[in-house]
Amino acid sequence: MSGSLTFIANPAEGNVNGDVNVPGDKSISHRSIMFGSLADGRSYVKGFLPGDDCLATMNAFKAMGVNIQGPDADNNVIIDGVGIDGLQQPSEQIDIGNSGTSIRLMSGILAGQSFASSMAGDVSLNKRPMMRVVNPLKLMGADISANDDGTPPVVVKGGSKLSGIDYQLPMASAQVKSCVLLAGLFAEGTTTVTEPGITRDHTERMLQAFGYDVQVDGNKVSLQGGGRLTACDITVPGDISSATFFIVAGLIAKQGAITLRNVGMNPTRIGVLNIVQQMGGNIELVNKRFAGAEPVADLIVHASQLQGIDIDEKDVPLAIDEFPAIFIAAACAKGTTRLRNAEELRVKESDRIQAMADGLVTLGVDCTVVPDGIDIVGGKLGGGTINSHHDHRIAMSFAISSLRASDTITILECENVATSFPNFVEMANGVGLNIKKQPA
Ligand code: S3P
Repeated sequence: MSGSLTFIANPAEGNVNGDVNVPGDKSISHRSIMFGSLADGRSYVKGFLPGDDCLATMNAFKAMGVNIQGPDADNNVIIDGVGIDGLQQPSEQIDIGNSGTSIRLMSGILAGQSFASSMAGDVSLNKRPMMRVVNPLKLMGADISANDDGTPPVVVKGGSKLSGIDYQLPMASAQVKSCVLLAGLFAEGTTTVTEPGITRDHTERMLQAFGYDVQVDGNKVSLQGGGRLTACDITVPGDISSATFFIVAGLIAKQGAITLRNVGMNPTRIGVLNIVQQMGGNIELVNKRFAGAEPVADLIVHASQLQGIDIDEKDVPLAIDEFPAIFIAAACAKGTTRLRNAEELRVKESDRIQAMADGLVTLGVDCTVVPDGIDIVGGKLGGGTINSHHDHRIAMSFAISSLRASDTITILECENVATSFPNFVEMANGVGLNIKKQPA
């Protein structure tokens, strides 16, 4: 987290218009570096997200001896894989910045190495729970630990022989699922993970694209250790999580439409579309096609009168990163929106239930927080000063709420927007918002 950045979001006219190419998918960009590094041969990645989180993953693998070129101006990356057994010990602790996906997935990879390693991050990452990955990795035989309170650094002794496990995930988490599967590559025998709810399946899809046999049976995923990955070309679709800010902006606008090009439509990621369409959002999906292993489409989002709903529990893991923006949609809807079974939101880059509730109350929105969710009563939005708690998605959600606000919204601690969406402000202003960046 470098420096502090404030967004001054002035009330816009309420009209939107434009055509937006959202940046590459963060989850897929991380995995392209990890799997490309572990593969035999050269992998070409198109549409890589040049955000701080994915660059942290890239730097970590460079520090382990992988030759990676890019991203160039067109976001192309070239990775010269070192093979499943080719990583080298980094010379110092890996600084993984703000990135939960990097530290959790890489814990699985590092647990299988012959060398010792340690990973830590910024103040926000260093407060996040790591026992969810440490516990299953210990069951597999890894010598791995975190602080007594379960926070980073994650320290791996290295040289342990791993064995496959049959693991029932205690929470719906693609990071934990992926961590265990990645450790499974280095383990003897079969590793099976069963998830309580379906979560994003980019690890499963990408391992298969790299020629690795992965068996998927409903919410159960298995693989055999000891295989190799073969380099391949990866096309990264636009990130539906980044697109969500423009989906909500388009829906809550008074008039107009926004076209979003090349948005990832993986069925395990489209919970946000299910939710906002149920709220009455008018979104056309056109030009459906495949970008490599992932389905994509263009979205035309029309200004809509939204209605409050009870959010279906099955959509929670499928929209897990989109709730801050969905809460803004709820604040602009008629009636009450209720979310439950979403306690995982409390351990994201911030406690997203509390951070959003505090900000909504500042803007004059009536909401009630419960341990695993929130009720939001739609109404009028005023202005005020919001603390984003260094959480990129809280910052961007309140930035788009300015489309419907009657006064200026000042959003503090916005520097981490660069982790997932480096040109967010420029794109938002391009469709009709009025956001200024004010460095500290
Ligand atoms: C991710 C999984 C999710 C998500 C995160 C990215 C991934 O985390 O919130 O932004 O790439 O696997 P959890 O596994 O903690 O739900």
